[in-house]
Amino acid sequence: MPFDLSTIPSQQGKIAIVTGANTGLGYETTLGLAKTGMKVILACRNQDKAEQAKARILSQLPKAELAVMSLDLSQLASVRAFVEEYRDRYSHLNLLINNAGIMFPPYEQTEDGFESQFAVNYLSHFLLTQLLLDLMPDKPESRVVSLSSNAHKFGKINFEDLQSAEKYSSVAAYGQSKLACLLFANELNRRLQAKGSQIVSLCAHPGVSNTELPRYIPKVVQLLLRLTPLPYMAHEPEAAALPTLYAALSPDLKGGDYLGPQGALEMSGPPGQAPQSETAQDEAIAQQLWSISEQLTRRSFSDG
Ligand SMILES: NC(=O)c1ccc[n+]([C@@H]2O[C@H](COP(=O)([O-])OP(=O)(O)OC[C@H]3O[C@@H](n4cnc5c(N)ncnc54)[C@H](OP(=O)(O)O)[C@@H]3O)[C@@H](O)[C@H]2O)c1
Repeated sequence: MPFDLSTIPSQQGKIAIVTGANTGLGYETTLGLAKTGMKVILACRNQDKAEQAKARILSQLPKAELAVMSLDLSQLASVRAFVEEYRDRYSHLNLLINNAGIMFPPYEQTEDGFESQFAVNYLSHFLLTQLLLDLMPDKPESRVVSLSSNAHKFGKINFEDLQSAEKYSSVAAYGQSKLACLLFANELNRRLQAKGSQIVSLCAHPGVSNTELPRYIPKVVQLLLRLTPLPYMAHEPEAAALPTLYAALSPDLKGGDYLGPQGALEMSGPPGQAPQSETAQDEAIAQQLWSISEQLTRRSFSDG
């Protein structure tokens, strides 16, 4: 049976956090979750944009329960402050959607000294998840959904130069960060299972969709891309958010599943099981990345 959001029973009383909820896939994911009755926290770096997104959803769904909270994933301190505020306001969390991301920016180091795609797409979500896990009820409906990409397939975790300090390729760093998200989702699931937890970690990818993600690609290249078949193989953000919503809500899935669109080259189409690269399934690489991430964030899984 294809995934159909309208068949999902009411999720009233549950709370979800969506990072990067103000636009693109995060916005559509937030809208979809709000339709189920779930309360959704829009975790965004720009409060004005987040309030505008909230108002847009409320104009469609006046009864939606939404709250805006400040989260800048380029600063680990902001992740910690977000969690502190969340804990002050709420006693539980049912769903964490690690959605926010950037693609192909010029080389930039965050204030913590990390390459920006590694920090925003992966490492801050690693820390955010560790700091929130103990608020999630021990049930299979409690889920952490991470966002990867077809780009994970060309990704390589460069342990020699994880922060691209010696040599920077924006494309390689994006691939590395999206592979890291998938390795993280798989390793988190293994660790949850090993400690007997019922919380589930899954990963999703949207295929290709016309969002604000290409903002760092030069305009002339964006124009040239429009002349290729690529735009015709992509799908609208509303459809591209479905693998994430499927991962978040379907009772038919298990931890470690990777969901994506089923059409040609995994670019568009209805959501279903997606193939992972061999590296994404490599437990030794996942464990090595995990322990480095614990050191970089000064947060260990056993702290939670
Ligand atoms: N679109 C695609 O074809 C595609 C394909 C594969 C994977 N993905 C993945 O899907 C996810 C969503 O991408 P999208 O296409 O929806 O991109 P988007 O339209 O550019 O949205 C990205 C979101 O992330 C937020 N964000 C960026 N940097 C942040 C930071 N430092 N702190 C907090 N939030 C930050 C953005 O906030 P601002 O609005 O304030 O910048 C925005 O809300 C990403 O993880 C991306 O890698 C997308």
